Amino acid sequence: MKADLLIHSAAQLCVLPSHDGGPQRGHHLGDLGLIEDGAVVCADGRIVAVGPTEEVRPDWWAPVEIDASGRVVCPGFVDPHTHVIWAGDRADEFVQRIRGATYQEIMARGGGIMSTVRATRAAPMAQLVAEARPRLDRMLAHGTTTAEVKTGYGLTLADEMKMLETIAVLEVSHPITLVPTFLGAHAVPEEFAHDPDGYVDLVVEEMLPRVACPEARQEPCLARTLSARFCDVFCDEGAFTLGQSRRVLEAARELGLGLKIHADEFAPLGGTGLAVEMGAASADHLVCTPPEEIRRLGRSGTVAVSLPATPFGLAHHAYTPAHAILEAGGILALATDCNPGTAWCESMPFVIGLACRYLRITPAQALVAATLNSAHAVGLGEEVGSLQEGYGADILILNLPDVQHLGYRFGINPVEQVIKGGRVVVG
Ligand code: NIG
Ligand code: FE
Repeated sequence: MKADLLIHSAAQLCVLPSHDGGPQRGHHLGDLGLIEDGAVVCADGRIVAVGPTEEVRPDWWAPVEIDASGRVVCPGFVDPHTHVIWAGDRADEFVQRIRGATYQEIMARGGGIMSTVRATRAAPMAQLVAEARPRLDRMLAHGTTTAEVKTGYGLTLADEMKMLETIAVLEVSHPITLVPTFLGAHAVPEEFAHDPDGYVDLVVEEMLPRVACPEARQEPCLARTLSARFCDVFCDEGAFTLGQSRRVLEAARELGLGLKIHADEFAPLGGTGLAVEMGAASADHLVCTPPEEIRRLGRSGTVAVSLPATPFGLAHHAYTPAHAILEAGGILALATDCNPGTAWCESMPFVIGLACRYLRITPAQALVAATLNSAHAVGLGEEVGSLQEGYGADILILNLPDVQHLGYRFGINPVEQVIKGGRVVVG
């Protein structure tokens, strides 16, 4: 049979099978579905066959063939939490933190998120596109083929819409699939410093109905992404209270958006419990989550997204209690959190290296958390993140002889070739 692309002779081909059609939960995390001397065949952007080379190859012919001998072949990474659209940088805050200031002290003096908000408001959309595109290029070169992207540096209706438009322009002009999330409740902007609830009113009454606009979602092409697929809220000290977060998420759910929350990054305000109660797609950060909320999370369908580049970026020493989450039966995923304040990190392989060490998970567990499970965190768990037949042909060829080298080696890019939708886009 004729196909478009055939990859063969992989030392290790990692299928990363779904479990009962879903993510890999609890201690079942890390099922690689490993095929030695493996092959995978793509046609019309999808995976049409996978198995041992000697079984698959005789049945298929493709104009492009890749010999992956001595290499690991796995699904493209899905990065389910990024703030990759912003203007300017905050290198000065990095230096202030090295000298002893804390992230929250800098935020309280009007720096932090608000400093990026000022720069992002001042930037025309073309500048935001031009600044974000090379970041996406580097993410792609490091193996990310799908990424969630948040707004949240605009904090007015017009500036949040400008961020959604930026995502839309990049979505149609860059190989990475982008999943837009509205994060109007990222910070209380300075003009509302004395009336945070007034800002929540604005988010709920004016911004959400516009960004969740179902008519916009049905329009073809560019306009399709002018609406968000998820709504997120930063529920933490110095940001939004549990009650404010609930208001935002309830309004979003009413409008049909999927839900996400930044919870327990600095202080345990109950955000993880709220995510479980509201059936959120994911709860993210989870550094200081209380044991009782971990137990509830573990019994739920809410994905636990850990962002180890963030404590690393802040030189903090507390990381997500991944073993407690797995013990509770939870769905663990990994993301970069790519943002100019806490973690300007574009590399999922680096995140995997951190997760192995500080979450104490194996390379096999980290690989599933960065693909199949993270795809479930953005509602695409039946589309990408696995090399099962029917999935999108988003595939990586890693210049590593064995999956155990993933995370073991760091400070290098192990990604040799990237295939997106069945087409070679890197290497
Ligand atoms: O996930 N926590 C909130 N948002 C980001 C930081 C954003 C920023 O500092 O600009 C985070 O860490
Ligand atoms: Fe974040």
